[in-house]
Amino acid sequence: MNQNIRVAASGAPLVNEIDRWIQTRLQQAIDTNGTATIALAGGSTPKVIYQALSKAEFTWDKLHVFWGDERFVPPNHPDSNEKMARENWLDLVSIPASNIHPWPTTAGTPEQCAELYGAELTKYFAAPQPSFDLVLLGMGEDGHTASLFPHTAALGVMDRSTTVGQKDGQPRLTLTVPAINHAACVAFIITGASKRPALKQVMATTADAQEYPSRLIQPTGELIWWFDEAAAAELDNLG
Ligand code: 6PG
Repeated sequence: MNQNIRVAASGAPLVNEIDRWIQTRLQQAIDTNGTATIALAGGSTPKVIYQALSKAEFTWDKLHVFWGDERFVPPNHPDSNEKMARENWLDLVSIPASNIHPWPTTAGTPEQCAELYGAELTKYFAAPQPSFDLVLLGMGEDGHTASLFPHTAALGVMDRSTTVGQKDGQPRLTLTVPAINHAACVAFIITGASKRPALKQVMATTADAQEYPSRLIQPTGELIWWFDEAAAAELDNLG
């Protein structure tokens, strides 16, 4: 088995493995640095992971939470990634409010919001690019990740940590490719048969990264792929 690819049965087996793995990775960072930083994925897949984390006994006061991307909506909007993570995890554990760093989606134009979050990241990490201990990512059926959508300008932004993505003409706020790739560890969590076609292209030896932006995620640190059996069914490099 490729060490970086982990497959488990859909549902509780996968959720339990990822839940334990995330806690272990964050605890390692805390043991080393005194704190841990995580950038969360949005969408629907991670919801059950966040629900599992909400039940964990953990030193939440040592964890700082960011988001890899966000919709350009207020935090109380049903599409908000912040709302989903708070309702399923962060509001249910004793994490200090100051440890939670959401995108400022109501602070101005999408460009202004992205710039403000970039400034917050620069201040927190005291460097031009953030060094997240762990970045969680999902992948869309089109091979996008975060809000880095196929054939959009966001894919080419290399000189900053945040930018404005575009989904069907709608603005999204996202970490850039270099910001994600600067992480110590990036973990994709991909489930369901609907992701198979894109996943085959993302995992292929060669394919167009502009067409399948998840291929652009090549961190200097670790890259871990978490799949359920449905998503991994047609992959042939699991041996
Ligand atoms: C978002 C996510 C996005 C998501 C993929 C997969 O804001 O929606 O960051 O990149 O991870 O679209 O979404 P699902 O998990 O809902 O399939």
